[in-house]
Amino acid sequence: MTVESVKSEARPEAGGELREPPVAEGAVPLLGHGLKLARDPLAFLSGLRDHGDVVRLRLGPKTVYAVTAPALTGALALSPDYIIAGPLWESLESLLGKQGVATANGPQHRRQRRTIQPAFRLDVIPEYGPIMAEESHALVARWRSGEVLDVTAESFRVAVRVAARCLMRGSYMDARAERICTALATLFSGMYQRMVVPLGPLYRVPVRSNREFNHALADLHLLVDEIVADRRASGQKPDDLLTALLEAKDENGEPIGEQEIHDQVIAILTPGSETVGSTIMSLLLVLAEHPDLGDKIRDEVKTVVGDRPVAFEDVRKLRYTTNVVVETMRLHPAVWILTRRAVTDTRLGGYRIPEGADVIYSPYAVQRDRRSYDRHEDFDPDRWLPERAKTVPKYAMEPFSVGNRKCPSDHFSMAELTLITAAIASAYRFEQAPGSDPRPRIGITLRPRRLLLRALPR
Ligand code: HEM
Repeated sequence: MTVESVKSEARPEAGGELREPPVAEGAVPLLGHGLKLARDPLAFLSGLRDHGDVVRLRLGPKTVYAVTAPALTGALALSPDYIIAGPLWESLESLLGKQGVATANGPQHRRQRRTIQPAFRLDVIPEYGPIMAEESHALVARWRSGEVLDVTAESFRVAVRVAARCLMRGSYMDARAERICTALATLFSGMYQRMVVPLGPLYRVPVRSNREFNHALADLHLLVDEIVADRRASGQKPDDLLTALLEAKDENGEPIGEQEIHDQVIAILTPGSETVGSTIMSLLLVLAEHPDLGDKIRDEVKTVVGDRPVAFEDVRKLRYTTNVVVETMRLHPAVWILTRRAVTDTRLGGYRIPEGADVIYSPYAVQRDRRSYDRHEDFDPDRWLPERAKTVPKYAMEPFSVGNRKCPSDHFSMAELTLITAAIASAYRFEQAPGSDPRPRIGITLRPRRLLLRALPR
């Protein structure tokens, strides 16, 4: 199976008596469920379905609605009664800007999606193929047998380079991709800290870590301005995302403003790099933990490709490799939690959801649910063979989400991840090196905490 676009099919809810969702068990006075959620969010969220398909959580004085049943997470994502809002998005706005596609709502969001969508169309993606292949092979060529790899740096580097070089083409991108990498690495760890320890004004105190964060943020904004100015000065209009943004018109047919172009570039580059980088880390962990998978990928690549380097055109035929990527995304979804806000009094699965309610769901919990998957914790790529994949309940596997906020880059990302996995597993086996800490790091995305791998020759 591939993770593909699912057609929107808004499912009208049947009428009838509305119920209040039950309050999840285990709330304590004052803090409610906050402590449990902070201590071990993955275990806490994974246990919620035992309490109901929709449950209420008490987080201090606030009530948050958690959706746990796959069908209802689909209904939520497809319903027009919810928008992108809530504390997670508010904290992200300082990085992503207020006018970017990831945080906009309503008509502005619809217009922005229309602008960016052509850059991610299925028939356009082959144009990115040579860059994806070049970067995959360059990644492998950087490594030496026996070397210990800092997998975090390596994974994010290739993710940024592919996104930046494909979506904002130009020879000038090479050096800039390195600067974008450095800036984003500092910003991602700083954002995580700001999200879990929201100390507000303390982040303005000029201590070293804050200065570094601010410097990285300023450099990222500067870089984006430089890239836009260079493209304009070059007079070139390659068929890519940047051209689409520079040519875009607003609701009145006027060119969109400089700020919006700027925010859009950041809003696309940032989630694109963070999610792909995290997934490559998880893929490398999986290859280290299950050496047999790497052997099978290597065999598949040999059969399909022969002795030449794997290329974009081979991806479609690399079924086993694709299934390893999909299974990695099931068990280690980069986007592990999603939030929405109800804009009207509404209903979900017969439960009442009041206007203004913050609603959350966790792809991690849904994709590891024993009700949806046999041997739900086992890594089994063959569960995505066509016959078996049919038995997976609808919306139980949506790492790219569905509906109007669905990731525009699902096909792009699947092609990139499959190609990178094929290239690295063909060249090396991996084992963890001393100091490696593969436990999940729960930040804006989910990924191994600190992965150090030794690359061993095949
Ligand atoms: C949105 C996942 C790669 C750009 C999303 C959403 C998910 C997601 C789940 C929906 C968020 C929501 O419903 O609130 C992933 C995963 C990726 C990936 C798992 C790779 C493993 C990328 C890449 C790009 C990208 C490579 C761009 C280069 C975006 C943008 C949005 C988005 C712009 C916002 C869409 C909107 O709000 O209309 N992604 N993504 N993503 N993704 Fe991705």
